[in-house]
Amino acid sequence: MTRKARPVSPGTKTSDEIAAMIRVDHAGEYGAVRIYEGQLAVLGARASKTADAIRHMAEQEQLHLKTFDALINERRVRPTALEPVWRVAGFALGAATALMGEKAAMACTAAVEEVIDEHYAGQIERLGDSDPMLKQTVERFWADEIAHRDTALAFGAENAPAYRLLSGAIKAGCRLAIALSTRL
Ligand SMILES: [Fe+2]
Ligand SMILES: [Fe+2]
Repeated sequence: MTRKARPVSPGTKTSDEIAAMIRVDHAGEYGAVRIYEGQLAVLGARASKTADAIRHMAEQEQLHLKTFDALINERRVRPTALEPVWRVAGFALGAATALMGEKAAMACTAAVEEVIDEHYAGQIERLGDSDPMLKQTVERFWADEIAHRDTALAFGAENAPAYRLLSGAIKAGCRLAIALSTRL
């Protein structure tokens, strides 16, 4: 017996797709929090403008994470199974770049946010009108992430040692993390 496929109206997203979006966003915001925790473990005691900027971005990431924590619970979305990996990898990436210097720390943020900019922009497009509440949240955070990237560039991210190599490696890592956290 063959079952007829249910017709899907254009612009409607299955709850699986929405769940995957919430899962990967939650994972990403958690990763961001851990990156900044790693950076502040190294630079946090410093009274520099860069350290202040990192503290400010870290506070915003805490808010992003809190929001996705709530969404994960409200919508009963399974969080990524890779949380322990992002816990360690995020912190290590933050600490390692901060140990390379303030500009490298900012290069890390610029690279991460460049990928997140694409990621959130793509989600907003795919969401269409299907989930206005989620879309509004993503749009709000998207604007913050773009501001983070601009801050990082203003603080000399591109003058970090081996900027292109560092940036390329971090972006590749972020894209992999996104692909994995959507599924797992
Ligand atoms: Fe964020
Ligand atoms: Fe950010």
